[in-house]
Amino acid sequence: MEAIKQLLEQNRKWAEDREQQDPGCFARQSKSQSPKILWIGCCDSRMPAEQLTGTEPGDMLVYRNIANLVNLNDPSCMSAIQFAVNVLQIDHIIITGHTNCGGISAALKGNTTDDLHEWLEPLQGLCDQHKEELNSCCNHDQRVDQLSALNIKQQVLNVAETDVVQQAWKRGQQLSIHGFIYDVASGELRSMGIHISGTD
Ligand code: CO
Repeated sequence: MEAIKQLLEQNRKWAEDREQQDPGCFARQSKSQSPKILWIGCCDSRMPAEQLTGTEPGDMLVYRNIANLVNLNDPSCMSAIQFAVNVLQIDHIIITGHTNCGGISAALKGNTTDDLHEWLEPLQGLCDQHKEELNSCCNHDQRVDQLSALNIKQQVLNVAETDVVQQAWKRGQQLSIHGFIYDVASGELRSMGIHISGTD
């Protein structure tokens, strides 16, 4: 229970500090939110979205799952995108994968069962599609990072193909989708140079 007690104590300290630095910040934020970014990342404990980007509460809507997958049949992810685009009118959706991803590694090893196996299923298709490229990597760790990169590109495309995003672009809404990778070994967040800003 010590770890749980510690969480609550740290929270009280965090809230006090924040209020001291910026009096009234919670009262103001309690009224509304207007983030400009939807972050879709892996739920790995080593990549806390807000901390690694230096963003503050209210700056990003964050949605995380194992291996940062955007599955068009997943109502949880689809509703996050719908809310972010249609209601919050965010400007950017960022798909962020990372090096040394356990979900990606498990998919490559093919040793998962039950729910996890089902969740990681889309990665199997990606493995088959890029078999030669992945086989040319010299070890498992390299294959993991290669598949992570391929996966980020695929998820950017998946987001672009959602009805919500397609409709937003048809309405002329400003909305860009980006692919980022986070290096857990250095703390560096890098753009993968993938940006989509419309149906073109
Ligand atoms: Co991961």
